Amino acid sequence: MSVLSGKNILLGVTAGIAAYKTAHLTRLLIKAGAQVRVVMTPRAVEFVTPLTLSTLSKNPVVYEFINHDAEKEMWNSHVELGLWADYYIIAPATANTISKMVKGTADNLLIATYLSAKCPVYVAPAMDLDMYRHPSTRDNLDALSSFGNVIIPAESGELASGLIGEGRMAEPETIVAFIEQHLVQKLPLFGKKVLITAGPTYELIDPVRFIGNLSSGKMGFELAKAAADFGAEVILISGPSHQSIEGYTQIKRVDVMSAQNMYDSVFQSYAGVDIAIAAAAVADYRPENVADQKIKKSDETLSIKLVKNPDILAGMGKEKKNQFLVGFALETENELANAQSKLIKKNLDFIVLNSLQDPGAGFKTDTNKITIIDKFDCITEFTLQTKKEVAKNILNMIVKNFK
Ligand code: C5P
Repeated sequence: MSVLSGKNILLGVTAGIAAYKTAHLTRLLIKAGAQVRVVMTPRAVEFVTPLTLSTLSKNPVVYEFINHDAEKEMWNSHVELGLWADYYIIAPATANTISKMVKGTADNLLIATYLSAKCPVYVAPAMDLDMYRHPSTRDNLDALSSFGNVIIPAESGELASGLIGEGRMAEPETIVAFIEQHLVQKLPLFGKKVLITAGPTYELIDPVRFIGNLSSGKMGFELAKAAADFGAEVILISGPSHQSIEGYTQIKRVDVMSAQNMYDSVFQSYAGVDIAIAAAAVADYRPENVADQKIKKSDETLSIKLVKNPDILAGMGKEKKNQFLVGFALETENELANAQSKLIKKNLDFIVLNSLQDPGAGFKTDTNKITIIDKFDCITEFTLQTKKEVAKNILNMIVKNFK
């Protein structure tokens, strides 16, 4: 999932030959899941047509202060555009536009919008090599950086003039990757590794039967997605579950079946992670022996001897070095007291309590109602929320407490 997914991106196109590449850039931004609107300088429309960019961006393209084509003449509001944008990408940015941005010369809609925008601004210069290395351009680019704008360096190569050197606008793929990388680095869990257990475990009785539970894996999968959205690299160790992590390249999913499989898998990664969250509903017991063949129906009763499974979370608590450790407690009585004693016994940093008594909380549902209790006995209660929101709250709490 790209960090640009769901974001409003304003693309500013100025009058340089590299403007022809903005059709592809628009496609890449749309493919990343962003909403795209395009503002152009009046001369840029001679390099690439507004029709091309409006078709690709699925939004009208603006390039004049007044829209004479509208049924009723309308003012194109640079203020509205600037406020709409989560990010403003000016690509290509000519030497002329860069200079006007520095001086605040708002003689076209693109620059008026630049002056109104409150969002991060990315600038991809494009010009001939001598213009690019001219002291005036260098000073102007330094000035933009000092304003907090981010410059996406031009590349070296053959220029439209036929000369070879630095000044080509970065390729659209490079621009998108540059911005994504820049944004990911600012996320609160960037550079952190998070291990999450999720779903039920199946404990085999014979080759076709098992002891399982009603866990769907929803909470653990939402936690994995939220951790990835927070910039972390995630290892998701899941029991049998129909949940999906499609689109999340930052999540490595490991499918397991039994508690013992989950235990083995967790301890292959645990030493190298920064944060571990145990959201799996692990079977406490498993059949002592798994029958080789399907057990035949015979007597009126059938006894299966169960033996205890390893407690994965308690094991992580024991082995804990610097990991921040979070567990779940699903309680039906003496909820707070039981959760608090688990927190201590398993050496956790905090525990997430969900009560089956709360309507809408627990297995299978899309919602959950949680209380977080930390190791300093600080208790935070949350209202009933979707599991997606709950996951975000848990991650925010981890970020707040994680050193
Ligand atoms: O002790 P209890 O099973 O209630 O604790 C629940 C917490 O412990 C959950 O975070 C669950 O994922 C974890 N757990 C575990 N391994 C077990 C049992 C529970 O990791 N065998």
